[in-house]
Amino acid sequence: MNHRIEFKATGGPEQLVLVDAPLPEPGPGEVRVRHTAIGVNYIDVYQRSGAYPVTLPAPLGFEAAGVVEALGSGATGLALGQRVATMDGPTGSYAEARNHPAARLVPLPDSISDEEAAALIFKGLTTHMLVRRVWTPVPGAWVLVHAAAGGVGLILTRWLAAEGVNLIGVVSTPDKAATVKAEGAKAVLVVPRGGSYGELAAEVRRLTDGKGVRISYDSVGKDTFEASLDSLAPFGLLASFGRASGALPLVDVAELGRRGGLALQRPSVFPHVADPAELQAAARELFAAHAAGKVRATIHARFPLSEAAQAHALLESRATQGALLLIP
Ligand SMILES: NC(=O)c1ccc[n+]([C@@H]2O[C@H](COP(=O)([O-])OP(=O)(O)OC[C@H]3O[C@@H](n4cnc5c(N)ncnc54)[C@H](OP(=O)(O)O)[C@@H]3O)[C@@H](O)[C@H]2O)c1
Repeated sequence: MNHRIEFKATGGPEQLVLVDAPLPEPGPGEVRVRHTAIGVNYIDVYQRSGAYPVTLPAPLGFEAAGVVEALGSGATGLALGQRVATMDGPTGSYAEARNHPAARLVPLPDSISDEEAAALIFKGLTTHMLVRRVWTPVPGAWVLVHAAAGGVGLILTRWLAAEGVNLIGVVSTPDKAATVKAEGAKAVLVVPRGGSYGELAAEVRRLTDGKGVRISYDSVGKDTFEASLDSLAPFGLLASFGRASGALPLVDVAELGRRGGLALQRPSVFPHVADPAELQAAARELFAAHAAGKVRATIHARFPLSEAAQAHALLESRATQGALLLIP
């Protein structure tokens, strides 16, 4: 018996059902991992809802921690019983166990628990991309972080603050603002659910002596796109890395010039760690940052694997601070 979550049609959380999906022995180059904790991510919502098309019926999930249970032929460098984490496809981490390419497994050090790893490996490597490849933090520089109390948002806030950046977080409730302040933000702006982001750029300019921010880390997408552009200093960068509120508008490139020589990037964690050596190097740096306290796993709630639908509903309700886990 191996239970996993599948969906036969795209739609709401109720499409997620627990099924029995027996696992074959791991194939050449594969490893069977028995999961101990599974991370829920917004990309899972995009796939389930149909925003990111997948072939149906489909398994779900990228992020999990677990233990190596069986090795396929040619799967080298890993031992039975070793603790590992996964952060990419083929999807299927919402499962008691899965077979996964050995080259895509990240060995876990003793300094991190399975639950912390399941909350950090996908979101933390995304953050690594944002602070190492997209923009190198400059102490004293002003930056804007949308959804700052979210899974990625809290990790990003703490890491940037630890590197001396002046960070303005954006969240939807005063309670979230307090959490983001505690992670090191210099200021937090609250835009309630259903509220307008129309005044956000003016607030950002007030906080930055009229200059604007060097970079806007924007994972909200549709609703915040204009406010992000308007908040940037000349030659600033809009790092648009998600679309929780909906798809992005089409962009007139000349408009970026008219607004002050702005840059626009759509970074993705998958090319960031596509090279197996880069995956391991980035994970080592992430775990070192975790051990040093620059990065921390905030777990908002745990659900049994069978309640993946409830976890999705909670994530989409915007009530979470940090990560959600599924426990098989
Ligand atoms: N490019 C990449 O490689 C990559 C990798 C990982 C994650 N991401 C993106 O990063 C973002 C964060 O992912 P996560 O898993 O950590 O999720 P999350 O941030 O925990 O949840 C999304 C947050 O977005 C905010 N939000 C604003 N408007 C929203 C709306 N209309 N609907 C839903 N949420 C809204 C909410 O915070 P407030 O209520 O405080 O506004 C909500 O809590 C997602 O957009 C995801 O796609 C991208």
